[in-house]
Amino acid sequence: MDPTKRKTIIAGNWKMNMTPSQAAKLTFDLKTAIPLKRRACEIVLCVPYVDIEMVKTGVTGSEMKLGAQNVHFAPKGAYTGEISAEMLTECGVEYVIVGHSERRQYFGETDETADKRLLAGVNAGLKVILCVGETLAERESGVTTQVIARQTRVGLADVSREMLGNVIIAYEPVWAIGTGKTATADQAEEVCAFIRGVVAELYDSGAAEGLTIQYGGSMNAGNAAELLSKKDVDGGLIGGASLKPEEFAKIIEAAER
Ligand code: 13P
Repeated sequence: MDPTKRKTIIAGNWKMNMTPSQAAKLTFDLKTAIPLKRRACEIVLCVPYVDIEMVKTGVTGSEMKLGAQNVHFAPKGAYTGEISAEMLTECGVEYVIVGHSERRQYFGETDETADKRLLAGVNAGLKVILCVGETLAERESGVTTQVIARQTRVGLADVSREMLGNVIIAYEPVWAIGTGKTATADQAEEVCAFIRGVVAELYDSGAAEGLTIQYGGSMNAGNAAELLSKKDVDGGLIGGASLKPEEFAKIIEAAER
């Protein structure tokens, strides 16, 4: 992290967990575990669509911001099962994730759809978290940087330099997601720095230096401080541990140090 250069963001990705009543309890418990104070980092909860209303009420009076887990690229129309950027903003959503590896793996999303979704989100005034990350097979065959470069370039293909201020990139190695197998701090730093280099080539060094790049993949209370101590790791996108208030609060504490 380098808070003098860019914002640190700790975001929870609840994935497909929590019914509205469970979400209300979790938000209450998070609010208790994360007391209101002036914070150096931004805290975001990316929740299932049906929980948005409940969580919006629950985070009132806290520093937690509301996020969603996807957004469609069309403004409206015949896209059964999808959600538009305007639907999200009208519900008070400020952040949205696009291109998560689970969307790529199970729902056929690609670098191109991530780019289109990102554009729709930013154009509607959302802050968009673009996920990139290599699979284990890609890492083992030595193509990590090629994969990350492609995902970053294509994912940002339609993003102007001005828009970049509302973009966050999350480096989430697929092999570290939900596996308990975290990337080492050095591995995370290496790829986050590499992404910053790609962004510098695409735009300029000022744009790259100002971009928040998170790490995601089995981040928890025990490993957060070390990961976040790296200069190019500007926060976390947290799955499992974001559902545990004490654990999530400790990750936030680690980001405040
Ligand atoms: P876990 O923290 O459960 O590994 O999930 C990471 C992730 O996919 C966040 O988007």
